[in-house]
Amino acid sequence: MRRIITFGTFDVLHVGHVRILKRAKAHGDHLTVGLSSDELNFSKKGRNPIYSFDARLELLSSLRFVDDVFKEESLEQKREYIIKHKADMLVMGNDWEGRFDEFKDVCEVIYLPRTPSVSTTEIIEIIKEQQ
Ligand code: CTP
Repeated sequence: MRRIITFGTFDVLHVGHVRILKRAKAHGDHLTVGLSSDELNFSKKGRNPIYSFDARLELLSSLRFVDDVFKEESLEQKREYIIKHKADMLVMGNDWEGRFDEFKDVCEVIYLPRTPSVSTTEIIEIIKEQQ
């Protein structure tokens, strides 16, 4: 069994999220997602997610190519999360290119091209403009 892991907030779930998860799963048999807690998202992006942790968890867990979702509480614990979940490969979008290379001693690390022209931030901005 080849185990894949990825991380993110996946707020306001959109097609870019679905595609990276589907492509990540295609590299193995089992996909684990480390889903940022609301507090971790605030510390990374300076805003609370639109969807609560529980709603994001429910959405991601409903996708057929996602096998397991856990709460990522701290960026500093990434190495422990990778080891705990026995990941053979870490997959991230290429907006993170190079940023996870330090974990190449415990698993393979690859970066996949982002889906163009869609992001949570952009969706929020478009909705705000329409108010
Ligand atoms: N992702 C992607 N294509 C997009 C948007 C995101 O492949 N168009 C990937 C990211 O590279 C990451 C994962 O989806 O590996 C989760 O990203 P996240 O930061 O939660 O989503 P964004 O839409 O990038 O959110 P934001 O605009 O708040 O940064």
